[in-house]
Amino acid sequence: MNHSIDLNPRQRSAKAGQSIAHESAHLHVTGEAVYIDDMPELANTLHLAVGFSKCAKGKITAFDLEAVRAAQGVYAVYTAADIQIENNWGPIVKDDPIFADGEVEFYGQALFVVAADTYQHARQAVRLAKIEYAAETPILSIQDAIEQQSWVLPPVEFSHGEVDAAFEHAPHRLSGSIDLGGQEHFYLEGQISYAVPLEDQSLKVYCSTQHPTEMQLLICHALGLHMHQVSVEARRMGGGFGGKESQSAQWACIASLAAQHSGRPCKLRLDRDDDMTSTGKRHGFAYEWSVAFDQDGLLHGLKVQLASNCGFSADLSGPVNERAICHLGNAYYLNAVQIRNLRCKTNTVSNTAYRGFGGPQGMFVIENILDDIARYLNCDPVQIRQKNFFAEKPGQGRDRMHYGAEVRDNVAPKIVEELLVSSRYFERKAEIEQFNRDNSIIKRGLALTPLMFGISFNAVHYNQAGALVYVYMDGTVAITHGGTEMGQGLYTKVRQVTAHELGLSIEKVRLIATDTSRVPNTSATAASSGADLNGKAVQNACIKIRERLSQLAAEISQTEASTVHFENNTVSTQSGLSWPFDELVHRAYMARVQLWDSGFYKTPEIHYDQVNHLGRPFFYYAYGAAASEVAIDTLTGEMKVLRADILHDVGRSINPAIDIGQIEGGFIQGMGWLTTEELCWQPQGPHAGRLFTHAPSTYKIPTSLDIPPVFHVKLFDNSNEADTIYRSKAVGEPPFMLGLSVFSAIRQAVQSAIPKDAPLVLNAPATAEEILRAIAIGRGQALAERPQPRLK
Ligand code: MTE
Ligand code: MOS
Repeated sequence: MNHSIDLNPRQRSAKAGQSIAHESAHLHVTGEAVYIDDMPELANTLHLAVGFSKCAKGKITAFDLEAVRAAQGVYAVYTAADIQIENNWGPIVKDDPIFADGEVEFYGQALFVVAADTYQHARQAVRLAKIEYAAETPILSIQDAIEQQSWVLPPVEFSHGEVDAAFEHAPHRLSGSIDLGGQEHFYLEGQISYAVPLEDQSLKVYCSTQHPTEMQLLICHALGLHMHQVSVEARRMGGGFGGKESQSAQWACIASLAAQHSGRPCKLRLDRDDDMTSTGKRHGFAYEWSVAFDQDGLLHGLKVQLASNCGFSADLSGPVNERAICHLGNAYYLNAVQIRNLRCKTNTVSNTAYRGFGGPQGMFVIENILDDIARYLNCDPVQIRQKNFFAEKPGQGRDRMHYGAEVRDNVAPKIVEELLVSSRYFERKAEIEQFNRDNSIIKRGLALTPLMFGISFNAVHYNQAGALVYVYMDGTVAITHGGTEMGQGLYTKVRQVTAHELGLSIEKVRLIATDTSRVPNTSATAASSGADLNGKAVQNACIKIRERLSQLAAEISQTEASTVHFENNTVSTQSGLSWPFDELVHRAYMARVQLWDSGFYKTPEIHYDQVNHLGRPFFYYAYGAAASEVAIDTLTGEMKVLRADILHDVGRSINPAIDIGQIEGGFIQGMGWLTTEELCWQPQGPHAGRLFTHAPSTYKIPTSLDIPPVFHVKLFDNSNEADTIYRSKAVGEPPFMLGLSVFSAIRQAVQSAIPKDAPLVLNAPATAEEILRAIAIGRGQALAERPQPRLK
């Protein structure tokens, strides 16, 4: 495998900018890292198992749990009737019952929980429930929802510029429709909560969550407690990917409810199949679009209907769709655009945040439109993309987002230029064309797509963070903040920030588990902003401590505090005096100097009007581009990614190795979304709405064998124009959208397998069946009736 990693050559002094290992890497690889299910269980722990609905929509007509209660090892069974305060865990809209009450809205909805002495007993008891339903016809597709005007939130209409005039005057117009499937998070550690009742009506909950404060708040709402009675701790997750931003709440509430009623520690870990069936996923989308453009492929006007499958409740569908609207143009300037956004209510699980948070779904359609324009004009798609970029410098037009924000940091053109050269795009394109002329069965495709992703939460109040830094009297340091660790390396980066600020070697700094009783009122670790927010908050606390130590050093040495220097575990002054850090710290302790402090940060300059979709919601943009080459087998539909070249902008990297890991992982996850990961629900019959693909046997995520054999990932040499921590840029989500290049490459390959003017509609995911279908349609071949409609 030719797998080259080009580490960022610019390294600052001390620890920021170095490729040090993940703070838990040695624990991950030895199995010593403690996840919640690894924690030694407390005496009297009860194990929970949830009973789920076996009907997608209907009234519950019989609900007999007698046999469940009588089963071996069962301590208690709790239902909606046991929730006295609020039977709801909805993060924004209150439409997410903890337990269904009287009626069910999707197949897999939680109905009751069994608390038993063992996990096995709890699961066995669940099966003894006798539940009957008066089933109604469920809405299972976006199309059905649109026909029935079934919404979780009312339709949104957005318009910018003179769209009708653009359509009237532009030389060319095209229109089309396309579907995009959802995606299962497939975090390795499933949803889990362990709720422990403590003295004086307080509760400690260990939860695998990206959002401890929201868990705390929703548990309080459900149980009628105050926030000072409940603390939520999250040391690490075995992956979250957005699936534990809001959706961890239901299980945290159920575990807490059982703990409150029983007075015993209660652990709820979802079985993998249950987790896949009963927790929300990425929203599938269906698009209708029309575009007006000129002979150069320059966009004049765009009309898009974005319809998303939200599932049965709102959850985070509002903000997810908002981001789809914001990112509809990806890296391209839209001077006139009309958007209709339908947030469809269906009888499936409620869909939620997933890496990119609607951004990928916004970009998917524009990239397809540009490919269609290129095909229509018989041009290279990259040239059409380049034509439509924002201006590189603001102030001379083509520099505003459709939502009003000025684009100040556009490096997309430079990145694409550089990648075209380093990936040998045009040479390889000619080689591939030759290959396709020589081969009638295997066809290749190459595509290069750019990426531009806004960084910050659209909800402005979320853009704040707090931290605590403790310098102990022996000179070692412990830090904690509101951010959570899900494998992305946040803890490693803030550890580097602390070591850098205090001039310490990395092993002097340790992370303490994120806990709402340490740092309160935290934001979700999401929107890729974990290091931006918490890095700055930690730095803020470090500066305060450093200033006090500097003051002391200056007093002793009779020099200026501003000249005191912290490096190599040593504090030195201009007068030549210096102390090992631990020695000065001990002197500070003896002199009664405060050695710990809190830090706070709020992102400046951002504002957003959610009603009119106008403002500057993002502090800056992260950029990247990927060139992917694929081969398809036109007889079987099989597809392979042969090579991928990525150039990605992380500003001045705090940790190049971690950033490259995020880029590789994000790209592969994005590739899986658009190729093999297909969600299928039973379309009709008594089990209509049941998820078929509820295990890795039927739901295919990429494996190590799907990594392109040639995979070049490089960091783009850049600084952040915005004042972020050490001028770095967020990296968690943006590279996910580089996976779009794989989809475009598949389209190119399909295009070469069909006649020039034949229709080309490739829906996502581009599974083998979908590739074959697109080729058959393009070749005008009769299609076998699909046995089951694909439900998005
Ligand atoms: N990387 C790993 N290994 N595991 C994860 O769960 N989640 C992604 C991304 N990278 C994730 C990940 C998502 S959805 C987000 S929003 C960011 O990490 C969150 O972390 P950050 O803000 O610290 O980048
Ligand atoms: Mo990421 S989808 O913002 O958790």
